Amino acid sequence: MELIEAIESRLSARAFLPTPVPRATVERILELARLAPSGSNMQPWQVDVVTGAVRARLIERALAWAQEHPVGSNENPLRGDPGGFRQPYKQRRFDCGMRLYAALGIDRRDKVAREQQLLRNFHFFDAPVGLMFSIHRSLLPGQLGDLGIFMGHVMLAAREFGLHTCSQGFWQDVSPAVHEVLDIAPEYYVYNGMALGLIDAEHPANRLEMPREPVAGFARFLGFEEPGFEEPGFDAAGSG
Ligand SMILES: Cc1cc2nc3c(=O)[nH]c(=O)nc-3n(C[C@H](O)[C@H](O)[C@H](O)COP(=O)(O)O)c2cc1C
Repeated sequence: MELIEAIESRLSARAFLPTPVPRATVERILELARLAPSGSNMQPWQVDVVTGAVRARLIERALAWAQEHPVGSNENPLRGDPGGFRQPYKQRRFDCGMRLYAALGIDRRDKVAREQQLLRNFHFFDAPVGLMFSIHRSLLPGQLGDLGIFMGHVMLAAREFGLHTCSQGFWQDVSPAVHEVLDIAPEYYVYNGMALGLIDAEHPANRLEMPREPVAGFARFLGFEEPGFEEPGFDAAGSG
């Protein structure tokens, strides 16, 4: 698969087929992802890959933990304050949720239906494999970007094997259960989970359109006075 195709076909899948993903395939994805750059090559990523009984135990324990603790009780200074996000981020975040609920036919006032969709996170959206990404707390927040780049590599490498992913910051909210079931030492910070598997392409949750800002909305070009080189084979008008 071409890189452009991998980038353009990646999306956050929120419904997967139960088809198992072999361990060898996940290892090949991680073989590629480990080539990601990191500050001073510190490679500050730790990954736990779960499937089968361990995945089931993680889901069960996380659900139980969430029942025993009020929403938002797992304090996380690195997460940001959802209520306090400034514009335009607040609006984009709201829009993201609205698009998901609209695709699923969920009325935004229907709290029960919204919570049921949130519960899908616990189940990795039925993906057979879950990945849990953590980082040593001594490297926070400086190297968190490295971990994000690594995760981006995982997402794109997965496309090469016909697989899809969904990053899940959600798992931070139930991280005590993750530490417990996966035996992750307290000095490691559980940053994100990720669902991995074959996409259920027919599912409405996978038919969202998540818009992006045009380049001019976030990039400034400074000092480009001379014409640059012509990139071979790149269609500047876009590839599709
Ligand atoms: C770090 C990170 C955490 C995310 N956490 C969640 C999550 O917990 N649950 C979820 O359904 N989607 C999650 N997403 C998916 C985003 O909502 C999604 O990337 C965004 O809406 C853009 O859509 P796209 O990935 O389909 O292009 C997360 C994405 C990233 C990069």
